[in-house]
Amino acid sequence: MASIGKQVGLVLSTFIPQRRTPDPRHAIPASDKDLSGKTVVFTGGTDGMGRVAVEMLSNMGARVVLLGRNEAKGMAVAREIAAAEGRGSVEFQSCDLASMASVRACAERVLTDHSRIDVLVNCAGANVAERIVTEEGFETVWAINYLGPFLLTTLLLERLKSSAPARIVNLSSDTESLGHIDFDDLQMEHDFSTLKAYPQAKLALNAFTIDLARRLEGTGVTVNCLNPGFISSNLLRDMKGVQGLFRYVMRVFASPPEVGADRIVRLAVSSEYQGVTGTYVSEDAIAVPNPEALDPAVREKLMQVSESAVSRFSLASRSAM
Ligand SMILES: NC(=O)c1ccc[n+]([C@@H]2O[C@H](COP(=O)([O-])OP(=O)(O)OC[C@H]3O[C@@H](n4cnc5c(N)ncnc54)[C@H](OP(=O)(O)O)[C@@H]3O)[C@@H](O)[C@H]2O)c1
Repeated sequence: MASIGKQVGLVLSTFIPQRRTPDPRHAIPASDKDLSGKTVVFTGGTDGMGRVAVEMLSNMGARVVLLGRNEAKGMAVAREIAAAEGRGSVEFQSCDLASMASVRACAERVLTDHSRIDVLVNCAGANVAERIVTEEGFETVWAINYLGPFLLTTLLLERLKSSAPARIVNLSSDTESLGHIDFDDLQMEHDFSTLKAYPQAKLALNAFTIDLARRLEGTGVTVNCLNPGFISSNLLRDMKGVQGLFRYVMRVFASPPEVGADRIVRLAVSSEYQGVTGTYVSEDAIAVPNPEALDPAVREKLMQVSESAVSRFSLASRSAM
């Protein structure tokens, strides 16, 4: 369990006004801004900072494949961005990260429709107030923030490799420092709290990022995780009671979505991060993640339980159909 001091520190830090605009010292060089011919697969681009990032990528000429759980909302976002005359294009594909069957079906469609994937951004995330178990038997926070992105990445990996140089960006959170991967109760059957579930899932995503970077050495595919900072968004929509108050704190003190979007797009395309892999980028700099993410034994165990949990949804398996 994280120390009380760490928890209090994180809460207090939400009352510090955050930057209003992206840091100009890290501006993406103009020469990196031509993404014509590049395909970017993007989850979580229907709202918050992800939506702004999709707009930026489209304006740079990318073909963005927007993966989302809400078809009407996703199609509307794709239409709005197209109407704003972005240089690239945005197409919507249905993908509910809480459902591994949906992730697999989506990955199959993406692989059929797109011969290359230059960038994968796992931006979707959710904070859920109560323990909800999906039809497939997964706790929802774990499924959306970790297991779904884990499966999606695994299913698209060969296409990323054949498109190298390619990049993967995983959206983490500074709450990962409060996390602990409880292998005895990953689904939090005994003691659910969103304050434990969300940091655990983000920590797992960090551990997966570091592990994957090792396995991708020499392939030309890099993978990094990002704490985008404290960004005004809809992330806390489900929070109730005292936790719900943080929605108001967010509105007042957090950075606008443009700041988070800029950090995502930088990690996805800027030469500032060329060849950089296996790192945890916190806001504008590489940082040290939770020690559990750096522990090879934790990572190996996580890989085993993750592969076993999604094995029936692999492309080779027919049992998920
Ligand atoms: N905001 C912050 O201060 C902060 C800090 C640290 C990390 N983050 C991380 O940053 C990322 C972006 O979050 P945000 O703050 O921009 O939040 P947001 O406004 O709530 O956007 C979240 C996005 O994830 C999508 N999503 C949620 N559940 C999904 C599911 N089951 N299947 C597919 N898509 C799903 C949402 O889709 P809908 O449009 O359908 O709702 C939306 O597009 C998240 O990973 C979050 O954990 C945020």
